[in-house]
Amino acid sequence: VCVCVCVCVCVCVCVCVCVCVCVCVCGHPWNRQARHTTPLKMDMKLRRLDLSKSFIRQLHTLGLPHLQQLDLSYNQLDLIAEEAFINLAQLEALNLSKNALYNNVGRNGRALRSIGGLRRLDISLNNLNDEAVELYLQNKFSLIHLDLTGNGITALTHNTFKECQGLKTIIAANNLIRDIEPGTFEPLMRLETLDLSQNNLAHICDFQLHQVNYLNLSQNSIEFFMTRQDEELFRLEILDLSDNKLFYFPIVPKFIHLRYLYLQNNMIGALNSEATMISEARSVYKEIVIGKANTKYHEIFSNWRIMPLIYIDLSSNHFRSVPFETLSLLTSLETLNFSRNCLQNIELNITKPGQLGYNYRRLFPSLRHLDLQKNSLRYITPLFFKALPKLETLNLQANSVKPCPPGNGHNMSCVAFRQIKTLKHLNLEDNGIQVLYANTFEKTSLAHLNLAGNRHMVLEEGTLEGVQGSLQSLSLSATNVSSRDLSLPCMPALSQLNLSNNHLDSIPVSLSCSPLRVLDLSNNALVSLNPSLIRAMSSHLSALYIRGNRFDCCNASWVTVLNESRVNLPDLSEAKCAVQGESVFLAAYIESPSGYCLFQTTVPVTVGQRLIVFIFVMTIVSMLFVFTRLWWT
Ligand SMILES: *[C@@H]1O[C@H](CO)[C@@H](O)[C@H](O)[C@H]1NC(C)=O
Ligand SMILES: *[C@@H]1O[C@H](CO)[C@@H](O)[C@H](O)[C@H]1NC(C)=O
Ligand SMILES: *[C@@H]1O[C@H](CO)[C@@H](O)[C@H](O)[C@H]1NC(C)=O
Ligand SMILES: *[C@@H]1O[C@H](CO)[C@@H](O)[C@H](O)[C@H]1NC(C)=O
Ligand SMILES: *[C@@H]1O[C@H](CO)[C@@H](O)[C@H](O)[C@H]1NC(C)=O
Ligand SMILES: *[C@@H]1O[C@H](CO)[C@@H](O)[C@H](O)[C@H]1NC(C)=O
Ligand SMILES: *[C@@H]1O[C@H](CO)[C@@H](O)[C@H](O)[C@H]1NC(C)=O
Ligand SMILES: *[C@@H]1O[C@H](CO)[C@@H](O)[C@H](O)[C@H]1NC(C)=O
Ligand SMILES: *[C@@H]1O[C@H](CO)[C@@H](O)[C@H](O)[C@H]1NC(C)=O
Repeated sequence: VCVCVCVCVCVCVCVCVCVCVCVCVCGHPWNRQARHTTPLKMDMKLRRLDLSKSFIRQLHTLGLPHLQQLDLSYNQLDLIAEEAFINLAQLEALNLSKNALYNNVGRNGRALRSIGGLRRLDISLNNLNDEAVELYLQNKFSLIHLDLTGNGITALTHNTFKECQGLKTIIAANNLIRDIEPGTFEPLMRLETLDLSQNNLAHICDFQLHQVNYLNLSQNSIEFFMTRQDEELFRLEILDLSDNKLFYFPIVPKFIHLRYLYLQNNMIGALNSEATMISEARSVYKEIVIGKANTKYHEIFSNWRIMPLIYIDLSSNHFRSVPFETLSLLTSLETLNFSRNCLQNIELNITKPGQLGYNYRRLFPSLRHLDLQKNSLRYITPLFFKALPKLETLNLQANSVKPCPPGNGHNMSCVAFRQIKTLKHLNLEDNGIQVLYANTFEKTSLAHLNLAGNRHMVLEEGTLEGVQGSLQSLSLSATNVSSRDLSLPCMPALSQLNLSNNHLDSIPVSLSCSPLRVLDLSNNALVSLNPSLIRAMSSHLSALYIRGNRFDCCNASWVTVLNESRVNLPDLSEAKCAVQGESVFLAAYIESPSGYCLFQTTVPVTVGQRLIVFIFVMTIVSMLFVFTRLWWT
């Protein structure tokens, strides 16, 4: 129930201006008013109460026997009365995030102890130390979900979660955790999700959490992750070790369901070679993990062969060559992110035939998406592409890859894309490509091709031969093309074309072949657009980008065509056109075209018409002259 009072004030000086202010006071749910203690009289039947962001500092007894969810987040709560929760027999979810519960730990602890039926508890952002957390988690035998993010926890011991062993989710991100005592998480048999990201962990010596499905250790200082190779089964599917100090791949349990492995932003690959990396990992393993001292070469990674990993992120590491020995064990791998490393060449030097099976097609049998952007790649052996029988997406942005001329597949200064039959997405943006030879992409299935940013590129006649039927999107942005050099074939599937940042003064007529939906013509040298081509395209075009051209306002019948169509012009507000040497906003011109081009409507002004105007003006001037002379005399 709400009660509202409105007050209006009007001031009249030439025009009248009125200002109204309404103030409403409502029963429940509680609105956000400043409140220093909790209100005492509330509807007894309340099930959910949101008191967040209400400046509450103290909490007294709440008599709400049906209350299930209480949100007290973002207050300044530092004291909870011991009996505060005694009458909340049904309380299941309590949000105390962002308060000051590092104060009065003893009293608050006794208050929190009394709610034994809690299932979800959020005590994040409270500056809590180890003791406070331990105290606040007492008698929480029903707790399933716990958020401890953003406190000051330094160590977790077997006492921390002793009284909340039913937990399924623990989020302890952004603390100062350095030590985790053995036996801390092991008794939590239902634990599935464990987030320990943004802490100070230095290593994981013997990972033994069979039950955990998601483990986030991102943004710690972890140097290695090792597990004893026993016969037990682990449930882990997602492991995030990104932003750490790893020098080697993690040594994961033998029987594991790992599907997603995040290793970006580490130091992996910084060691000399893959063989060095494996042997160092092995000796650290020997030193650290008790028991199996006689680990054979490959044994510690041999379990990778049976791991169902589909995704691995190795971006921003220090690889100078692809670690084929290890990665080729991952037969289920679908996505490999190798961006931001230091690759220059990808070669497949098979020193011991048989070791990798010699059948290249077995190397990466499932890999579909390969991200190699921001390396320094110049050469990729054609054998590598043979080893990727399912490759669909290849991102080579910001490398130095030059596509090979026809019939020159084994030249170490270029990369041959011909015949990668499965390839659908290819990104060659910013590679400094100078020439794209004819038939460069023949016998691929290219649907998306990005050639943008190759500033000195020359497109040979027939470059797109073989893919003109399959291409759906093409970017030639910032490739220094002018209308004279650009001859695009008829591309009957093309729906997106980016020609921005070039020198075009007209659009290629062959575009009438394509069912274009998005066309970017921004930053070119266009003066006008062909109205009949625009009319033909307007039936399928949904977005046309036009800013940064030299349009002539008085040669703009194309604007009228667009104005009548449903084509969206997303950058219209920035587009301009010129009228008599002045530049005006195209949007203003469209609003009232008749205001501009007075002498130059759609009908061009002929020399004869100009002469008539000139004679007319001269006659008036002469008559004025004659009159003034008569007047003075
Ligand atoms: C507690 O409240 C905060 C802020 O409103 C919110 O971000 C957080 O997700 C809530 N916690 C739970 C467990 O719902
Ligand atoms: C792990 O935690 C970090 C930081 O809290 C977060 O950015 C990242 O998305 C998480 N990783 C996964 C796989 O959820
Ligand atoms: C690979 O990693 C880079 C940098 O972390 C990221 O920008 C890119 O989106 C990732 N690629 C894929 C395919 O996930
Ligand atoms: C691979 O072999 C080529 C010659 O076949 C050689 O030039 C190159 O250095 C070798 N690369 C590696 C990483 O051994
Ligand atoms: C390799 O190809 C480049 C052009 O891509 C050419 O200039 C060079 O002469 C070729 N080298 C050899 C050894 O064929
Ligand atoms: C762009 O092409 C023109 C010739 O069309 C050439 O004069 C100019 O140098 C090229 N610019 C760059 C950056 O390559
Ligand atoms: C065209 O390419 C440029 C440069 O890559 C990009 O900034 C722009 O967003 C692209 N246009 C569209 C419509 O995607
Ligand atoms: C309008 O522009 C087109 C293409 O730029 C040009 O061919 C035509 O002569 C121009 N018409 C007028 C009246 O200036
Ligand atoms: C665009 O359409 C509006 C009304 O729909 C009309 O007033 C305006 O004159 C048109 N502008 C041009 C350039 O055709």
